[in-house]
Amino acid sequence: MDDFLPPSVLLPFAAVGLALVLYKLAAFFRMLLSLFVLPGQPVQKFGRKGSWAVVTGASDGIGKEFSLQLAAKGFNVLLISRTQSKLDALAQDISSRYDVEAKVYAMDFARNDDRDYQNLSSILADLPDVSILVNNVGLSHSIPVPFAQTPEDEMKDIITINCIGTLRMTKLVTPILIQRKRGLILTMASFGGVLPTPLLATYSGSKAFLQHWSSALGSELAPYNIRVQLVQSYLVTSAMSKIKRPSMMVPTPKQFVRAALSKVGRSGGASGIAYTCAPYWSHGIMLWALETFVGTRNKFVIDFNKKMHEDIRKRALRKAEREGKKIE
Ligand SMILES: NC(=O)c1ccc[n+]([C@@H]2O[C@H](COP(=O)([O-])OP(=O)(O)OC[C@H]3O[C@@H](n4cnc5c(N)ncnc54)[C@H](OP(=O)(O)O)[C@@H]3O)[C@@H](O)[C@H]2O)c1
Ligand SMILES: *[C@@H]1O[C@H](CO)[C@@H](O)[C@H](O)[C@H]1NC(C)=O
Repeated sequence: MDDFLPPSVLLPFAAVGLALVLYKLAAFFRMLLSLFVLPGQPVQKFGRKGSWAVVTGASDGIGKEFSLQLAAKGFNVLLISRTQSKLDALAQDISSRYDVEAKVYAMDFARNDDRDYQNLSSILADLPDVSILVNNVGLSHSIPVPFAQTPEDEMKDIITINCIGTLRMTKLVTPILIQRKRGLILTMASFGGVLPTPLLATYSGSKAFLQHWSSALGSELAPYNIRVQLVQSYLVTSAMSKIKRPSMMVPTPKQFVRAALSKVGRSGGASGIAYTCAPYWSHGIMLWALETFVGTRNKFVIDFNKKMHEDIRKRALRKAEREGKKIE
């Protein structure tokens, strides 16, 4: 013990160590406050009662919950997805339960048809006041698949729906929001885009694209009093995730959307990522822990993630075989 370094040498190191620990602790408590204590901006702040919220991928899962919960808060809703009958049923349900109007437009974002966007443009022009856009529609790979084996259509559809569709919807709505100097644009991302994800490479890239695009847009539109927020999410029970039973890490769409709409303007677990929120508590802690202790883009994490998705692929292929289905 006697030949340890003298205190005059050790002390500066101890001080630096202590400062680092305090800094991390402060970040930890900031994250907890953001997730559990501090409220977000009320969404009603973005539009007076009766103004319109536009939701893509609105007929199921997370989008359906956004539509229902925004309607419950007094917004009229314009619902967009492929299936007219599902849209009609939801619009019916919404207008019978809440004192709001619901309009629908059926389109397939994968077709990227100019006429759809023209039609939407004229529908929007006829609405008295549009205040919220929820870019929720998204497609992932049907099962994890090596990029080299990814069907051409699946690859194209993912980019067309997740990226082009989101850009074109936002391009339609943004001028309206700029003109009224108030508005909210939420975009659904995914941890699949935070962590480079082997065997979901195209989906992963599309969600990483949305992260960068949305943060950049957030800064551009802030002077117009338009709040742009990327919504980060790990798994949620839905048709897409193919998970039916909720758990601590996997909330229902209802729980997830309740969190998302209560944390507008907060970061949740995404502190340090501008104009971004990881609103659901367990997802938020997970993202914070990943960023703080493990990192999101190092080789260790990517290789671990690859192993996980290789196993998911094996199980999915076995299941398909049992059920006599053919996959790619
Ligand atoms: N579930 C998760 O674990 C999870 C995790 C992270 C992020 N996310 C993201 O959250 C978003 C919503 O996912 P979800 O799980 O709620 O999905 P979902 O339950 O499968 O619902 C998808 C919705 O989008 C519509 N849709 C699908 N393809 C479309 C297309 N080509 N054109 C127009 N509408 C289309 C569907 O209705 P139709 O079939 O009638 O078109 C449905 O209303 C996605 O962006 C996803 O990437 C989900
Ligand atoms: C656009 O609107 C027109 C007129 O209502 C309609 O006939 C058409 O089917 C819509 N969709 C497309 C893709 O053109």
